[in-house]
Amino acid sequence: MNGNDVRVVTVVGSGTMGPGIAAGFARNGFETRVFDVKEEQLDKAKGAVDFVCQTLIRGGFMTEAEAETTKGNLTYTLDLAAALNGADYVVETVPEKKEIKQSVFRQIEDHVRDDTIIASNTSGIPITQLAEVCRIPSRVAGMHYSNPPHLIPVIEVIRGEQTSPETLAAVTEVSKRIGMIPAQVDRDVPGFVENRILYAIMRESLNLLDEGVASAEAIDTIAKWGIGYKLAVIGPLELLDVAGLDIYTSVASYLNADLSNEAGVSSTVAEKVAAGKLGLKTGGGLFEYTPEQIQALGARRGKLLLATKKALLAE
Ligand SMILES: NC(=O)c1ccc[n+]([C@@H]2O[C@H](COP(=O)([O-])OP(=O)(O)OC[C@H]3O[C@@H](n4cnc5c(N)ncnc54)[C@H](O)[C@@H]3O)[C@@H](O)[C@H]2O)c1
Repeated sequence: MNGNDVRVVTVVGSGTMGPGIAAGFARNGFETRVFDVKEEQLDKAKGAVDFVCQTLIRGGFMTEAEAETTKGNLTYTLDLAAALNGADYVVETVPEKKEIKQSVFRQIEDHVRDDTIIASNTSGIPITQLAEVCRIPSRVAGMHYSNPPHLIPVIEVIRGEQTSPETLAAVTEVSKRIGMIPAQVDRDVPGFVENRILYAIMRESLNLLDEGVASAEAIDTIAKWGIGYKLAVIGPLELLDVAGLDIYTSVASYLNADLSNEAGVSSTVAEKVAAGKLGLKTGGGLFEYTPEQIQALGARRGKLLLATKKALLAE
């Protein structure tokens, strides 16, 4: 199936990621079906789509009319056969467990045409392993969104060992049609590209915290204003050319050996987890939060991400 011909999309799994993903298709004119095995998840999805639309309207990224179009193009169902009947393109976004995903892939293939594209939003399970249970593995690729999918515009398009060039091209084309920024990952190594880079940053940040080099507040301030702000306009590899590869060579030759290569989990994180302090969902983790702060932080971060996106797209 050519990406330009895709008209009917089914999103399988409606948890944290599904509703925002579905809203992106619906907003761009695709007939979009949302399937889940739990009715309560579909009920929640409708509220989540409202929230996505309100956030985008407030940020100047959606009109009221577009919100109506988005909702008008969405249907929700517990019936997998109905959800997949006539689907041109499927996005699988069920829990990150290989057995669940493989079982869902088998079920999807029972209900779709041979030319239907099947894209997985897995964060790190190799696409090759998901595709190996499929009758037609060449139609399977990774389509990895970043959370929240209505705010972060990149999509990693991942090639499994058996993914065909046509499937990769279709996922890339469809990603563009929904206003996202696709980037191809040529080998499905664990964590793909985004999470490998992110986890390298988090490992070093936690190691600095564990070693008492700086406070959590200071580490985040330096990362946000020294690195994150810059990375929004220049990638790490472009940055190397700006710094000069000779300078990098001098610094890396002593610094790389001193960086964390910890294979386990940071001692600070392990202690917090043992104490039941898991982050926002328990009111505290590496930082403490009141319920009011949690609400306010979510809204503020969404607003700032959209304002930054507007500035970056304005050039
Ligand atoms: N949450 C994130 O930050 C994030 C970011 C990027 C990618 N992902 C990936 O997206 C996928 C989904 O993550 P999530 O956080 O939305 O998970 P989630 O647990 O919030 O939602 C999963 C949904 O799938 C449903 N489900 C379970 N079995 C099903 C089945 N057999 N058929 C259909 N639906 C079924 C569940 O009822 C639930 O609604 C995972 O692969 C995850 O790694 C998550």
